[in-house]
Amino acid sequence: MSIIDIESKYTSGVTSKRPLAIVRGKGARVWDENGREYIDCVGGQGTANVGHANPFVAQAIAEQARTLIALTEIFYNDKRAAIEEKLVQISPNHANRIYLCNSGTEAIESAIKLARYTTGRTGIVAFMRGFHGRTMGALSATWEPKYREPFLPLVPDFSHVPYDNLDKAREAITDQTAGVIVEVVQGEGGVRPGSREFLLGLQDLCRERGAMLIVDEVQTGFCRTGKMFASEHYGLEGDFVCVAKSIAGGLPMGAVMIGERVKKLEPMIHGSTFGGNPLACAAALAAIGFMERENLAARAAELGAYIIGRLQRIESPLIREVRGLGLMIGVELKQKVTPYLMALMERGVLALPAGLNVLRLLPPLVIEKSDLDVVAEAIEAVLQEAKE
Ligand SMILES: Cc1ncc(COP(=O)(O)O)c(C=O)c1O
Repeated sequence: MSIIDIESKYTSGVTSKRPLAIVRGKGARVWDENGREYIDCVGGQGTANVGHANPFVAQAIAEQARTLIALTEIFYNDKRAAIEEKLVQISPNHANRIYLCNSGTEAIESAIKLARYTTGRTGIVAFMRGFHGRTMGALSATWEPKYREPFLPLVPDFSHVPYDNLDKAREAITDQTAGVIVEVVQGEGGVRPGSREFLLGLQDLCRERGAMLIVDEVQTGFCRTGKMFASEHYGLEGDFVCVAKSIAGGLPMGAVMIGERVKKLEPMIHGSTFGGNPLACAAALAAIGFMERENLAARAAELGAYIIGRLQRIESPLIREVRGLGLMIGVELKQKVTPYLMALMERGVLALPAGLNVLRLLPPLVIEKSDLDVVAEAIEAVLQEAKE
């Protein structure tokens, strides 16, 4: 049986898959089981910012694997101490504490709990088209009805208001609100950057009304948008900044950067067996070191402006809008995007959807400009073919 047949037989079925088995990667390229090469603008769904099989991350993982893999936070550890110190240093919110976990949804779940713990309130205000993960708390903050409805009732006291609309947020945030949870650029919801006024306005409202601001940087973090964190574009300072995806060069890891307005956290009120394991911490140290040395943020800003400009110049009646920040890019079509993703795959380019009609690009930030040219040409060609 082929790889695809075996997986199709035994997979849980919760992921809609493409008929392609990827077995190897390097930088911004991946290869299938037959050795065919692809330019990868899926980028592990945003987890591969430092490039596939990054040699520094690979070496750090190998060394740490030979040294110590399993250690819970009961004991102190050199790699954990170093990554906590590093995350505090680079945090966009002047964090003074770090909570380590294993995924984006866990980071969000943790922030929701700790916002309730700090304020003694229950209300969480989230935004339409927002995506924050799939565990019950994170799912309660996620907007998409298709993801939520099979699992009702969810956690009580969550509400959703329109994104980028400060007036509606002002009505929703009250003295019962524990936290407001927001993406700086909505990712799964269609690559929609929030405005400076909206984001800083939320911060003011939270301070004024005693609510915690939870900034979800799971997709936008670690240089994706042209800064180490997207919050830095506006000087946004969440009380919690949630990160994951590319933090550890592709290894599962999440973190919450905790600001000073958050109450002192008592032992045992929250926790995780795998959180802060030395293997993930070592990988994260190597990945963040690489981002800093190579100035990946500046690279994402420059290449992002280049490809967005190039895509905006495509003349196609099928395009509604091209938008993005850094190398987080959305091409909104007037039609469903899936057939175009398949046509791009035929041409050797892998890309993502965001919602039904947005084509999303999240390439590793080490991608070459010449590869971005190939991507833009391929997008133009598949849109052109569709017209014919
Ligand atoms: C903005 C945002 N928040 C949270 C999550 C959930 O992260 P994870 O899939 O690591 O649980 C995602 C995943 O795509 C995301 O994009």
